[in-house]
Amino acid sequence: MSNQKPPYRDLETKMQEAKELIHVLRTQQVDAIVGQRHIMLVRLQQAEETLRSSRNQLRAFAAHLLSVRENERAVIARELHDEFGRALTSLQLGLSWISRKLTPGQQPLQEKIRSLSATTTSLIRSLKNIASGLRPGVLDELGLVKTLKSEAREFEGHTGIQCRFKTNTAKARFDRSAAVAIFRIVQAALTNVARHAEASRAVIALMKRKDGLILTVTDNGKGINRKLIYSHASLGITGMRERALALGGTFALADSRSKGTMLTVRIPLSRIIVGRNEGGANQT
Ligand SMILES: Nc1ncnc2c1ncn2[C@@H]1O[C@H](COP(=O)(O)OP(=O)(O)OP(=O)(O)O)[C@@H](O)[C@H]1O
Ligand SMILES: [Mg+2]
Repeated sequence: MSNQKPPYRDLETKMQEAKELIHVLRTQQVDAIVGQRHIMLVRLQQAEETLRSSRNQLRAFAAHLLSVRENERAVIARELHDEFGRALTSLQLGLSWISRKLTPGQQPLQEKIRSLSATTTSLIRSLKNIASGLRPGVLDELGLVKTLKSEAREFEGHTGIQCRFKTNTAKARFDRSAAVAIFRIVQAALTNVARHAEASRAVIALMKRKDGLILTVTDNGKGINRKLIYSHASLGITGMRERALALGGTFALADSRSKGTMLTVRIPLSRIIVGRNEGGANQT
C-alpha cells in the first residue's frame, strides 16, 4: 500500500506520454509536408526546365525552317531565271526570226507574231519580278540600305501610301543572313501596313546606336489590336519575331491609337560586317 503511486502521478506520466506522442506525430506530419513540398518543387523545376528546353528547340527549328525556306527560294529563283528565262528568250528570238522571213503579203501572220512577241516580253518581265521577289538578288548588288530605299519607293508607287526611308548608316554592309532577314521583316511589315493599317504614311528607319542596330517601321494608321501581337494565329508577326530572334535580336510591336503601329527590331552590331564604326548624318 505504501509503494503505491498517488493517482495524480500516474495521470501526470500519462499526460507526459501523450504529449510526447503528439510531438512525434506532429514532427512526422511536418516532415511529410516538407518532403512533399520538396518533391513538388523539384517536379516544378523539372517541368520548367523541360518547357524551356522545348521552347529553345522550337526556336531553333523555326530558325532552321526560315533558312531552309530562304535557300529553297534561291534555288527556285535560279531555276526560273536560268531555265524559263532562257526558253522565253529563245522563243522571242525565234519569233523575230520568223517575222523577218515573212513577206509583206503575210500581214495577218505578221500581226499574230507581233502579239506573241509582246506576250513573251511581258512574260519575261513577270518572270524577273517573281525571281527577284523569291531571292532578293538586289541585296547582293545594291546592299541592304539601297535595297530598302528602293523598296520604300516601290511601295509608295504601288500603294499610294507615302513611304520614307531614313538611316544613319548608309555605307554599312551586313552579313547576308542578317540582310535577308531585315529585308523580309520590312517587306512583311509594309505588306501589313498596306493591308491592315488604313495609313497614309509609313516610315522605315535603320539606325545604328551604341547598343545595336535598330530597325523601325512606323505607320500612322488605326493601330494594331494587342491580342493580335501575341496571337499564335498571327503567322506573319510570328515569322518576323522569329527572324529577329534568330539573329540574336529582339522584336516589339506597339500599338498607339493616336500614332498607328510601330515595329521595332534590335539587332546586335556584330551583324554589320563593314562600316561598324561609321557614324554620320541621317540620310533619306
Ligand atoms: N500595321 C498594322 N496596323 C494594323 N493592324 C495590323 C498591322 N499589322 C498587323 N495588323 C493586324 O495583325 C494581324 C496579324 O498580322 P499578320 O501579319 O501576322 O497576319 P496577316 O497579315 O493577317 O496574314 P499574313 O500571314 O499574310 O501576314 C492582321 O490580320 C491585322 O489585323
Ligand atoms: Mg501580314
